[in-house]
Amino acid sequence: MSQGGEAENKIIEFPRPKPPRAPRKPRVVKTTRARRIVAVGGGKGGIGKSLVSANLGIALAQRGSSVVLVDADLGGANLHSCLGVPQPQVSLSDFIDRRAETLEEVAVPTGIERLKLISGARDVLDAANPRHAEKQKLLRHIRSLDVDYVIVDLGAGTGFNTLDFFLLADTGIVVLLPEPTSIENAYRFIKAAFFRRLQLMERTLGCGELIADALAGAPGAAKTPFELLTQAREKLPEAYARLEVAVNGFRPQLVLNQARTRADHELGSQVSGAWKKFFGLDLGYLGAVAHDDAAWKAVRAIKPLLIAEPGSTAAAGLLHVAENLLSLPA
Ligand SMILES: Nc1ncnc2c1ncn2[C@@H]1O[C@H](COP(=O)(O)OP(=O)(O)OP(=O)(O)O)[C@@H](O)[C@H]1O
Ligand SMILES: [Mg+2]
Repeated sequence: MSQGGEAENKIIEFPRPKPPRAPRKPRVVKTTRARRIVAVGGGKGGIGKSLVSANLGIALAQRGSSVVLVDADLGGANLHSCLGVPQPQVSLSDFIDRRAETLEEVAVPTGIERLKLISGARDVLDAANPRHAEKQKLLRHIRSLDVDYVIVDLGAGTGFNTLDFFLLADTGIVVLLPEPTSIENAYRFIKAAFFRRLQLMERTLGCGELIADALAGAPGAAKTPFELLTQAREKLPEAYARLEVAVNGFRPQLVLNQARTRADHELGSQVSGAWKKFFGLDLGYLGAVAHDDAAWKAVRAIKPLLIAEPGSTAAAGLLHVAENLLSLPA
């Protein structure tokens, strides 16, 4: 009998082999990019931003492009009604609150081939109100949607969220009515977007103080892009060239809605000419949409105008706007 006794008979436990590690989830690096992002804003409520967004989406889809409409009217989402679809069960809130990982998961079919909708928040209490980091993530994901066109329908007002969605776009459309109040609001919106754009580019421009003063409405500060360029030329000649490039890169497109008279139809190009002369803003003009009973009747019937009344005057105007949008340089 060996002397080891009990100790010798003890079962030696070999260290168990570690279970193989679960393979690491590959990080999904999105390399896709929407071909063109179009945002539709205008500062004022009830001027036809959603009508224009929905029907531009339909027009582009009908021409064979893949389109996602994003209802970025956070808190007042109703784009689904302009498309004639019931309120989707999933919305941007699900993405912002991380119940959905990707925007593709909250994009729902609209019944129109190649056209999907990402709805806004379901109701005011559910209002998607992204913080800065969440907003950046949302903007990044919108940019990398794998479609030909993303059309972003904005809410009223000039809040930073609205402006940042507008500035995300390759083409920013500003809707206005042929009324002084609406024209004033459109200018206010464009001016706010202009200074917000420069604020976001401030570090590379090197004229942060001039921009900050303009934003704060400080005495003597620039009130228009024109004045800002003049001040930069005098005070900061080395920053002037960079600022000029930034100013020229800002070119919103106007759409005049609810035109009733011939003069109304011409107003869009007159407004853009006047703003260029007096404020130094270079704007494009995509065309006018007539005031048309067919438009409000379609909204009441919860049907998209281009589907319900494709031969109406307003539909013709919207198709013309879509054509002009398609002919803009990439
Ligand atoms: N060209 C038009 N002809 C007649 N009525 C129109 C026209 N465009 C819009 N409307 C009417 O104006 C209403 C408001 O339009 P819409 O909802 O598109 O505006 P909005 O700018 O998106 O408003 P909000 O700021 O509340 O989101 C429509 O429901 C419709 O009744
Ligand atoms: Mg709207």
